[in-house]
Amino acid sequence: MDVRMANRMRELKASEIREILKLTQRPGMISLAGGLPAAELFPVERVEDVTKQVLGEEGRHVLQYSPTEGDPRLRELIAGRMNARWGTSVGPDDILITSGSQQALDLSGKLFLDPGDAVLCESPTYLGAINAFKAYEPQFVEVKTDNDGMDITDLERSIAANPKVRLAYVIPDFQNPSGRSWSLERRRAFLDVMVRHAIPVVEDNPYGELRFEGEPLPPLKALDAHGLVIFLGTFSKIFCPGLRIAWLAAAPALREKYVMAKQGADLHSSSLGQRQIAVYLDRFDLDADIEILRQTYRRRRDVMLRTMEETFPSGISYTRPKGGLFLWVELPGDVNARDVLAHSLDQGVAFVPGGSFYPNGGHENTLRLNFSAMSEERIEEGIRRLGRVLGEVMAERAGTGRVEALAGS
Ligand SMILES: Cc1ncc(COP(=O)(O)O)c(C=O)c1O
Repeated sequence: MDVRMANRMRELKASEIREILKLTQRPGMISLAGGLPAAELFPVERVEDVTKQVLGEEGRHVLQYSPTEGDPRLRELIAGRMNARWGTSVGPDDILITSGSQQALDLSGKLFLDPGDAVLCESPTYLGAINAFKAYEPQFVEVKTDNDGMDITDLERSIAANPKVRLAYVIPDFQNPSGRSWSLERRRAFLDVMVRHAIPVVEDNPYGELRFEGEPLPPLKALDAHGLVIFLGTFSKIFCPGLRIAWLAAAPALREKYVMAKQGADLHSSSLGQRQIAVYLDRFDLDADIEILRQTYRRRRDVMLRTMEETFPSGISYTRPKGGLFLWVELPGDVNARDVLAHSLDQGVAFVPGGSFYPNGGHENTLRLNFSAMSEERIEEGIRRLGRVLGEVMAERAGTGRVEALAGS
């Protein structure tokens, strides 16, 4: 029976990445598509050990409801790590534990966006944020973004042209999908503009700790003297995503509103998951685990870039990220990455076409490659096959100007 649904459901579509991830379940598929951390590096035995301890010592407590704000010890550990690592000055009472950063994105939409309001974002930006915000029926204002971050002139122009801007959403470190990081100058200039217009900023930072080279830069949160920045951190990419434990750090008045919004969503994040992570942090050296992740991902990135240099035809450009999980490829303007994907899947290689990362559409000549989830051998083989597909596409294009001519080949 057809039932009437709320208007907000009109704009919601199944994430294209989830659809592609289903295809990657085919045996033998080399997936450069998802954003999964390397499962072989999850500290399974240590988590098992910690879980036994937590259930043994405080079983009745961790299986019970718990406060919305989150476990006090975990909040204290998170505030301490942030301040030591990023030069912020947050306390445990500025932290709210969330069920993944994904929940913090949804709550941000709930807090700041009425239908028709505008959200400023990088172009391209994280698909999961686009989908979370869409439920609140905003307009998306994409700001031009280059290798140093948002273009400040375009930012000023966008704000002047859109009086209903209510929120800015940015990923200044090793962005998903582009792998780019903002320079210090852009971070400062961006914040100046936000302060002048009193626009709250959601700074999403799942990848900042996964730096392979160069000096760490301060997050916007560390540069913010006005309490405008809501910092999102997560254990998904530095520990394991399955526990769904993340956090936000915000000025007290804002954090209080997030607490109320979260109460309506899930009352609190998993009591057990929070204690598992707090006890893990107390007993083991998470920074040593992160160092292994960094080294592994750096080697995988290097293999990917080296094989791209060897096998990709000319006329294709790509980013060289200094950290994170992704790099970003631009094909010539008339080549559609969705067509390339169809050929690439035939060759057993999956990636994500870039068009979905632009909330207002276009840019179909772009694609995202992930280098965290596959071994170096699989990455090399996957990129060789993709290089061959691209070689055929580019040769065909040079001959006929039509990529579709390859269909069925
Ligand atoms: C930029 C960005 N934000 C948020 C998330 C969601 O993270 P979580 O697992 O903490 O919900 C991801 C996951 O890939 C991401 O790339």
